[in-house]
Amino acid sequence: MDKGFQEYLDQFVEFTSQYNKEIYYGNQGRDDIQAPVEPEIGRFLAFIVRMTGARKVLELGTGVGNSTIWLAEAVKETGGNVTTVDNHPRTWKEATANIEKSGLGEYVTMTHSDADEAVRKLREQNLQFDIIFQDCAKYIYTVIYEDVAALVRKGGIIVADDTMFPVCANVRENLGRHMDRYNRQMFADRRFFSTMLPIGHGMTLSWKR
Ligand SMILES: C[S@@+](CC[C@H](N)C(=O)[O-])C[C@H]1O[C@@H](n2cnc3c(N)ncnc32)[C@H](O)[C@@H]1O
Repeated sequence: MDKGFQEYLDQFVEFTSQYNKEIYYGNQGRDDIQAPVEPEIGRFLAFIVRMTGARKVLELGTGVGNSTIWLAEAVKETGGNVTTVDNHPRTWKEATANIEKSGLGEYVTMTHSDADEAVRKLREQNLQFDIIFQDCAKYIYTVIYEDVAALVRKGGIIVADDTMFPVCANVRENLGRHMDRYNRQMFADRRFFSTMLPIGHGMTLSWKR
Protein backbone atom coordinates (compact mmCIF):
# COMPACT_ATOMS: atom_id res chain seq x y z
CA MET A 1 0.00 0.00 0.00
CA ASP A 2 1.13 3.57 -0.72
CA LYS A 3 2.94 4.95 2.39
CA GLY A 4 0.92 8.18 2.54
CA PHE A 5 -2.29 6.18 2.24
CA GLN A 6 -1.28 3.93 5.15
CA GLU A 7 -0.19 6.87 7.35
CA TYR A 8 -3.46 8.66 6.73
CA LEU A 9 -5.46 5.50 7.51
CA ASP A 10 -3.49 4.92 10.73
CA GLN A 11 -4.73 8.22 12.17
CA PHE A 12 -8.29 6.97 12.19
CA VAL A 13 -8.12 3.24 12.66
CA GLU A 14 -7.80 3.14 16.41
CA PHE A 15 -7.85 0.16 18.69
CA THR A 16 -11.09 -0.28 20.59
CA SER A 17 -9.56 -1.56 23.84
CA GLN A 18 -6.30 -1.95 25.70
CA TYR A 19 -6.48 -5.68 24.88
CA ASN A 20 -6.35 -5.51 21.10
CA LYS A 21 -3.69 -2.79 21.35
CA GLU A 22 -1.52 -4.79 23.77
CA ILE A 23 -1.84 -8.01 21.84
CA TYR A 24 -1.00 -6.34 18.51
CA TYR A 25 2.02 -4.31 19.64
CA GLY A 26 3.16 -6.93 22.18
CA ASN A 27 3.57 -9.49 19.40
CA GLN A 28 5.08 -7.31 16.67
CA GLY A 29 8.43 -8.46 15.30
CA ARG A 30 8.14 -12.04 16.60
CA ASP A 31 9.44 -14.58 14.13
CA ASP A 32 8.00 -17.59 15.97
CA ILE A 33 4.36 -16.78 15.17
CA GLN A 34 2.51 -15.86 12.00
CA ALA A 35 1.58 -12.20 11.77
CA PRO A 36 -1.52 -10.95 13.60
CA VAL A 37 -3.96 -9.07 11.37
CA GLU A 38 -3.38 -5.34 10.98
CA PRO A 39 -5.59 -2.96 13.04
CA GLU A 40 -7.50 -1.95 9.89
CA ILE A 41 -8.43 -5.60 9.34
CA GLY A 42 -9.37 -6.07 12.99
CA ARG A 43 -11.51 -2.98 12.90
CA PHE A 44 -13.11 -4.09 9.64
CA LEU A 45 -14.01 -7.46 11.23
CA ALA A 46 -15.47 -5.68 14.24
CA PHE A 47 -17.39 -3.38 11.89
CA ILE A 48 -18.90 -6.12 9.75
CA VAL A 49 -20.02 -8.15 12.78
CA ARG A 50 -21.73 -5.11 14.29
CA MET A 51 -23.17 -3.93 10.95
CA THR A 52 -24.76 -7.29 10.13
CA GLY A 53 -25.65 -8.14 13.74
CA ALA A 54 -23.75 -11.40 13.31
CA ARG A 55 -24.06 -13.72 16.28
CA LYS A 56 -22.46 -16.91 15.03
CA VAL A 57 -18.90 -16.28 13.96
CA LEU A 58 -16.28 -18.85 12.96
CA GLU A 59 -12.60 -17.95 12.79
CA LEU A 60 -10.03 -20.26 11.17
CA GLY A 61 -6.57 -19.24 12.39
CA THR A 62 -6.60 -17.88 15.95
CA GLY A 63 -2.88 -17.10 16.15
CA VAL A 64 -2.28 -15.55 19.56
CA GLY A 65 -5.85 -14.24 19.63
CA ASN A 66 -5.50 -10.77 18.09
CA SER A 67 -8.34 -10.97 15.55
CA THR A 68 -10.32 -13.15 18.00
CA ILE A 69 -10.41 -10.26 20.47
CA TRP A 70 -11.67 -7.82 17.81
CA LEU A 71 -14.40 -10.34 16.93
CA ALA A 72 -15.21 -11.17 20.57
CA GLU A 73 -15.67 -7.50 21.47
CA ALA A 74 -18.13 -7.22 18.58
CA VAL A 75 -20.14 -10.37 19.39
CA LYS A 76 -20.35 -9.22 22.99
CA GLU A 77 -22.53 -6.41 21.60
CA THR A 78 -24.55 -8.57 19.19
CA GLY A 79 -25.17 -11.30 21.76
CA GLY A 80 -23.15 -13.90 19.89
CA ASN A 81 -20.11 -16.15 20.12
CA VAL A 82 -16.89 -16.71 18.19
CA THR A 83 -15.71 -20.25 17.54
CA THR A 84 -12.01 -20.06 16.78
CA VAL A 85 -9.73 -22.81 15.48
CA ASP A 86 -5.95 -23.20 15.49
CA ASN A 87 -3.75 -26.28 15.31
CA HIS A 88 -0.55 -24.89 16.82
CA PRO A 89 -0.06 -26.01 20.45
CA ARG A 90 1.98 -23.03 21.62
CA THR A 91 0.06 -20.21 19.92
CA TRP A 92 -3.19 -21.87 20.99
CA LYS A 93 -1.96 -21.80 24.61
CA GLU A 94 -0.95 -18.14 24.26
CA ALA A 95 -4.29 -17.29 22.66
CA THR A 96 -6.16 -19.00 25.50
CA ALA A 97 -4.23 -16.93 28.05
CA ASN A 98 -4.69 -13.68 26.07
CA ILE A 99 -8.43 -14.18 25.68
CA GLU A 100 -8.78 -15.07 29.33
CA LYS A 101 -6.86 -11.91 30.29
CA SER A 102 -9.13 -9.79 28.09
CA GLY A 103 -12.16 -10.96 30.06
CA LEU A 104 -13.87 -12.01 26.81
CA GLY A 105 -13.58 -15.76 27.37
CA GLU A 106 -17.33 -16.26 27.69
CA TYR A 107 -17.78 -15.03 24.09
CA VAL A 108 -15.17 -17.38 22.61
CA THR A 109 -15.18 -21.13 21.99
CA MET A 110 -11.58 -22.24 21.57
CA THR A 111 -10.96 -25.27 19.34
CA HIS A 112 -7.51 -26.80 19.16
CA SER A 113 -7.65 -28.65 15.85
CA ASP A 114 -6.65 -28.72 12.20
CA ALA A 115 -9.01 -26.47 10.28
CA ASP A 116 -10.04 -29.23 7.86
CA GLU A 117 -11.02 -31.55 10.69
CA ALA A 118 -12.79 -28.74 12.55
CA VAL A 119 -14.95 -27.70 9.57
CA ARG A 120 -15.83 -31.33 8.86
CA LYS A 121 -17.01 -31.80 12.46
CA LEU A 122 -18.98 -28.54 12.43
CA ARG A 123 -20.73 -29.71 9.25
CA GLU A 124 -21.57 -33.06 10.85
CA GLN A 125 -23.32 -31.07 13.59
CA ASN A 126 -25.29 -29.17 10.89
CA LEU A 127 -24.04 -25.84 12.24
CA GLN A 128 -24.23 -22.63 10.22
CA PHE A 129 -22.42 -19.34 10.74
CA ASP A 130 -23.25 -15.73 9.92
CA ILE A 131 -19.61 -14.82 9.29
CA ILE A 132 -16.59 -17.04 8.66
CA PHE A 133 -13.17 -15.43 8.87
CA GLN A 134 -10.38 -17.40 7.20
CA ASP A 135 -6.81 -16.65 8.23
CA CYS A 136 -5.04 -19.99 8.57
CA ALA A 137 -2.62 -21.75 6.17
CA LYS A 138 -3.08 -20.30 2.70
CA TYR A 139 -3.00 -23.64 0.88
CA ILE A 140 -6.00 -24.80 2.90
CA TYR A 141 -8.48 -22.15 1.67
CA THR A 142 -9.15 -24.19 -1.46
CA VAL A 143 -8.93 -27.55 0.37
CA ILE A 144 -11.76 -26.65 2.79
CA TYR A 145 -13.60 -24.52 0.23
CA GLU A 146 -16.78 -26.63 0.02
CA ASP A 147 -17.01 -27.14 3.78
CA VAL A 148 -16.72 -23.40 4.40
CA ALA A 149 -19.23 -22.69 1.61
CA ALA A 150 -21.70 -25.04 3.32
CA LEU A 151 -21.05 -23.70 6.83
CA VAL A 152 -21.93 -20.10 6.00
CA ARG A 153 -25.67 -19.47 6.07
CA LYS A 154 -27.56 -17.91 3.15
CA GLY A 155 -27.06 -14.16 3.51
CA GLY A 156 -23.87 -14.78 5.50
CA ILE A 157 -20.36 -13.69 4.58
CA ILE A 158 -17.01 -15.41 4.13
CA VAL A 159 -14.13 -13.04 4.84
CA ALA A 160 -10.82 -14.39 3.52
CA ASP A 161 -7.63 -12.60 4.54
CA ASP A 162 -4.38 -12.17 2.59
CA THR A 163 -6.03 -12.66 -0.77
CA MET A 164 -3.86 -10.09 -2.55
CA PHE A 165 -0.73 -12.15 -1.80
CA PRO A 166 -0.36 -12.76 -5.59
CA VAL A 167 0.67 -9.12 -6.02
CA CYS A 168 2.44 -8.52 -2.68
CA ALA A 169 6.17 -8.12 -3.37
CA ASN A 170 7.39 -9.67 -0.11
CA VAL A 171 5.28 -12.84 -0.26
CA ARG A 172 6.50 -16.26 -1.39
CA GLU A 173 5.27 -17.15 -4.85
CA ASN A 174 3.63 -20.41 -3.74
CA LEU A 175 1.48 -18.57 -1.16
CA GLY A 176 0.38 -16.12 -3.85
CA ARG A 177 -0.51 -19.00 -6.13
CA HIS A 178 -2.76 -20.56 -3.48
CA MET A 179 -4.57 -17.27 -2.98
CA ASP A 180 -4.93 -16.71 -6.72
CA ARG A 181 -6.57 -20.14 -7.03
CA TYR A 182 -8.93 -19.26 -4.16
CA ASN A 183 -9.90 -15.90 -5.67
CA ARG A 184 -10.57 -17.41 -9.09
CA GLN A 185 -12.69 -20.21 -7.58
CA MET A 186 -14.65 -17.81 -5.38
CA PHE A 187 -15.31 -15.14 -8.01
CA ALA A 188 -16.52 -17.81 -10.46
CA ASP A 189 -18.86 -19.37 -7.89
CA ARG A 190 -22.43 -18.25 -8.64
CA ARG A 191 -23.61 -19.26 -5.16
CA PHE A 192 -21.72 -16.19 -3.92
CA PHE A 193 -21.37 -12.51 -4.77
CA SER A 194 -17.77 -11.53 -4.08
CA THR A 195 -15.61 -8.46 -3.94
CA MET A 196 -12.03 -7.69 -2.93
CA LEU A 197 -10.71 -4.94 -0.68
CA PRO A 198 -7.07 -3.80 -0.79
CA ILE A 199 -6.63 -3.47 2.97
CA GLY A 200 -3.85 -5.27 4.83
CA HIS A 201 -2.68 -7.91 2.37
CA GLY A 202 -6.06 -7.89 0.68
CA MET A 203 -9.37 -9.33 1.68
CA THR A 204 -11.97 -11.24 -0.36
CA LEU A 205 -15.55 -10.89 0.83
CA SER A 206 -18.15 -13.37 -0.37
CA TRP A 207 -21.84 -13.01 0.35
CA LYS A 208 -23.90 -16.20 0.04
CA ARG A 209 -26.95 -15.67 -2.16
C1 LIG B 1 -1.83 -15.62 10.25
S1 LIG B 1 -1.98 -16.55 11.72
C2 LIG B 1 -3.51 -16.02 12.37
C3 LIG B 1 -3.46 -14.66 12.94
C4 LIG B 1 -4.69 -14.26 13.69
N1 LIG B 1 -5.86 -14.27 12.85
C5 LIG B 1 -4.49 -12.91 14.35
O1 LIG B 1 -4.92 -11.88 13.85
O2 LIG B 1 -3.82 -12.89 15.39
C6 LIG B 1 -2.39 -18.14 11.08
C7 LIG B 1 -2.69 -19.18 12.16
O3 LIG B 1 -3.26 -20.31 11.51
C8 LIG B 1 -2.82 -21.47 12.15
N2 LIG B 1 -2.92 -22.56 11.17
C9 LIG B 1 -2.18 -22.74 10.06
N3 LIG B 1 -2.59 -23.81 9.41
C10 LIG B 1 -3.63 -24.33 10.09
C11 LIG B 1 -4.47 -25.45 9.91
N4 LIG B 1 -4.32 -26.27 8.87
N5 LIG B 1 -5.42 -25.68 10.81
C12 LIG B 1 -5.59 -24.84 11.88
N6 LIG B 1 -4.81 -23.78 12.11
C13 LIG B 1 -3.84 -23.52 11.23
C14 LIG B 1 -1.39 -21.17 12.57
O4 LIG B 1 -1.02 -21.96 13.68
C15 LIG B 1 -1.46 -19.67 12.90
O5 LIG B 1 -1.59 -19.46 14.28
